[in-house]
Amino acid sequence: MRQFLSERLPLEAFSAHLRKPLPKHINLLFSLGSLAMFLLLLQAATGAFLAFYYSPSPEHAHNAVTYISEEVPFGAFVRGLHHWGASAMVIIVVLHLLRVVLYSSYKAPRELTWIFGVLLLLIVLGFGFTGYLLPWDEKAYWATVVGVEIASTAPGLGDFVAKVMRGGTEIGAVTLSRFYALHTIWLPWLVFGLVGVHLFFVRYYGSSGTPKNTPEEMKTGKPFYPHQVFEDAVGMLILFVILAVVALFVPVPLEDVADPTNADYDPRPEWYFLFLFQLLKYFQGPFEVIGTFVIPTVGMLLLLFLPFLDRSERAVLWKRPIALTVTSVCVVGIVVLTILGGTSKKLETTDAAVQETSQPTEQIQGATTSDTETEEVEEGEAVFDFQLTEEEIEGARAVEESQ
Ligand code: HEM
Repeated sequence: MRQFLSERLPLEAFSAHLRKPLPKHINLLFSLGSLAMFLLLLQAATGAFLAFYYSPSPEHAHNAVTYISEEVPFGAFVRGLHHWGASAMVIIVVLHLLRVVLYSSYKAPRELTWIFGVLLLLIVLGFGFTGYLLPWDEKAYWATVVGVEIASTAPGLGDFVAKVMRGGTEIGAVTLSRFYALHTIWLPWLVFGLVGVHLFFVRYYGSSGTPKNTPEEMKTGKPFYPHQVFEDAVGMLILFVILAVVALFVPVPLEDVADPTNADYDPRPEWYFLFLFQLLKYFQGPFEVIGTFVIPTVGMLLLLFLPFLDRSERAVLWKRPIALTVTSVCVVGIVVLTILGGTSKKLETTDAAVQETSQPTEQIQGATTSDTETEEVEEGEAVFDFQLTEEEIEGARAVEESQ
């Protein structure tokens, strides 16, 4: 068999390529990229299973998810793997990014590997955002209302982007179809395409190793196959066991079915968006756009072009004082904002945001916010609390029932 294949395929050359030695000082942190790859495949496999039973319509989505969790054999387990796997993916990808920063592996000639990595990070977050709506429960609906409103504040294209995301003026059946299409078709194609390019660069330039390596030591480490492959496989097994235990013992939350008239709901995004959510609270009125658009966009652009901005010599992070300070401030800032966002009560924001965010509800209701309600919202301390009058809620129910 081997003979048959090697007469037809360049097996020897491929095997020699895999056995090429890696740089000498490589440690466990160099398995994080492979772990991200593993999680991506696990998400694809578990997602394909969930898609067998899921139905992307407001009438069926919540029932389908309940059915998966309660009736389908291993449904709760697979849903658990997919749900906790998404969080694990974000953690592992961020750790992988920090490992690359730690050893300044983004420096020449690996700038493109880095840029494609940042795009991958954005796509991973895109999976999280689009997947959050799919169970069509209260948190899914209201977090998406806020998320889309945030997108709409972007100068120029904001309204257009929000309209495309919603597929109209309110969150509903078309929004759910679009998010489902993005989550299961557009983003998977994009992610596998970009991972392909990312890995091509990784193999083409070879591993950067740590800055400790002398030029000779770059080619005197253990071979990729079988040594590194074995270590990566052990890492994947450990990660899978942890995820399986979590999936078995920690149920995935599912709230009541989405109710656009639930005036008291306190919207909250997935934990990895909490820092952005918290950031909004510090920018009120005309400054709102700084929290919703300027800081996130500038932050992303700086991250994207980091290899061109950091002109220091290649060295480990603690020998680069500026990079160390910037990285520490960013990491501590994001962690603190995440904790504050998770523990705080309702999202405080500007009057404008309240008015705009409650718009979809008003449109469903065919009513406008009452005077009493507007008076309740004091400048500088307004909240996303969607307070509506009894009549408005009744009106909304009547419209919903007639649909
Ligand atoms: C789906 C997400 C990702 C996957 C599957 C992935 C996969 C990988 C793999 C398998 C490696 C080689 C092993 C290693 O060095 O750990 C690697 C290297 C690399 N990755 Fe990623 N990666 C992802 C996201 C990112 C992100 C978010 C960044 C940074 C913004 C990034 C930047 C890099 C760089 C610069 C290298 C080369 C490191 C070196 O040569 O030492 N990657 N990636």
